[in-house]
Amino acid sequence: MPLIIVVGAQWGDEGKGRIVDYLAAGADFVARYNGGDNAGHTVTVGGKIFRLHLVPSGIVHPHTIAVMGNGMVIHPHTLIEEMTTLRSAGVSIAPQRLHISPAAHLITPAHRALDRAQEAARGRSAIGTTGRGIGPAYMDKAARRGLRMADLLTPNFGERLRAHLQEANRTLSLLDAPELDVETEAQAYLDQISRLALYIRDVSGELALALQRGQTVLAEGAQGTLLDLDHGTYPYVTSSTTVAPAALSGLGLGMNAAREARVVGVVKAFLTRVGAGPFPTELQGKLAERLRGTGANPWDEFGTTTGRPRRVGWLDGVLLRYAVRVNGLTELIVTKLDILSGLETLKICTAYTVNNTHVCDLPGGPDALASCTPLYEELPGWKEDITHVRRWSDLPKNAQRYLERIAALAETPIKMVSLGPEREQIFAL
Ligand code: IMP
Repeated sequence: MPLIIVVGAQWGDEGKGRIVDYLAAGADFVARYNGGDNAGHTVTVGGKIFRLHLVPSGIVHPHTIAVMGNGMVIHPHTLIEEMTTLRSAGVSIAPQRLHISPAAHLITPAHRALDRAQEAARGRSAIGTTGRGIGPAYMDKAARRGLRMADLLTPNFGERLRAHLQEANRTLSLLDAPELDVETEAQAYLDQISRLALYIRDVSGELALALQRGQTVLAEGAQGTLLDLDHGTYPYVTSSTTVAPAALSGLGLGMNAAREARVVGVVKAFLTRVGAGPFPTELQGKLAERLRGTGANPWDEFGTTTGRPRRVGWLDGVLLRYAVRVNGLTELIVTKLDILSGLETLKICTAYTVNNTHVCDLPGGPDALASCTPLYEELPGWKEDITHVRRWSDLPKNAQRYLERIAALAETPIKMVSLGPEREQIFAL
């Protein structure tokens, strides 16, 4: 099956980075199709931790070609920094193995300033964005005035950039936010961005050819299903299309690429979310602190991009079924099961009550979530440390039961489980 799409089945931070890294061992291309440096994908290899925001996680494997698709928004400074960090860790980064779509959009300092100013102006209804300029960059894209990678190669790029910064200053002044020094920002931006010109390729054509030849393309989604602009908990979402079908449009692939695609949903064994918005199974107090961790470990529940503590809660079976449907998931991979070890009782939300009515689905989509009260099923926990387990038969019976219940609720098989941050802590079932 040459196309594998990996997508977050929840609100992001499901551990996609490490799953992509694991699956990339068998892939020829690893391609990001949405979002920008709001994402934070952590990969741990032999004790070395890579925190990637833009470059596809699979680049850590020397045989892969990493692709950044047209669906992405790229902040050049972050990309260059990431390329430098990867190089100094011994990862080869060269135009032969990192390809950027000419149609990917650019994030500028103006987008970041506007993101912050717009959030401040929203006051109590702030979305809790990452402040990386994602929304304003996609706004410019939709308004057909965005700057794209291809524009770098045109002689009037500097002129267009300055005009864009001046235009942003007009909006910033309306929002009572500090304006940008156009000349300083433009010069710094132009100096950096010229280094990326060598990486521009027709990635759509390249990937189509690769699939025709029977090579494997691993499409890496950023954020998660419930942060999707259309299918998430709008307006508390990101500004890109995160769901699996976006892998096609975000990489320039046609429908034929989807035939027999493997669509992998990454599911954390409990639920987390960063930023504002409804979260029916959210927990507070001691149990929340226990699931979140203290922040001492890199895998604790604090944002990779912003360092913010994540909100935590029980797994939500209703939302998982929804994710299976809107993505067309063919399999699940469950991460962080080890974090649940030691809890006496586990809960899974299997339905909601809304206005005294029982619902097992979301007829109105996730917009209705704010008025949903979760109904839980309780399952017995397990005491054993499972971080060293590498086989289904070695998992405690109650851990097996928990996984079986997730698969039954999702009506989708679980194909792998991850029990820690290392590559070897993932095993197939
Ligand atoms: P933005 O993408 O920065 O505009 O943020 C919009 C919402 O998506 C906020 O609630 C963010 O916390 C959330 N978000 C964006 N990227 C990620 C991610 O990679 N993981 C988890 N949440 C994210």
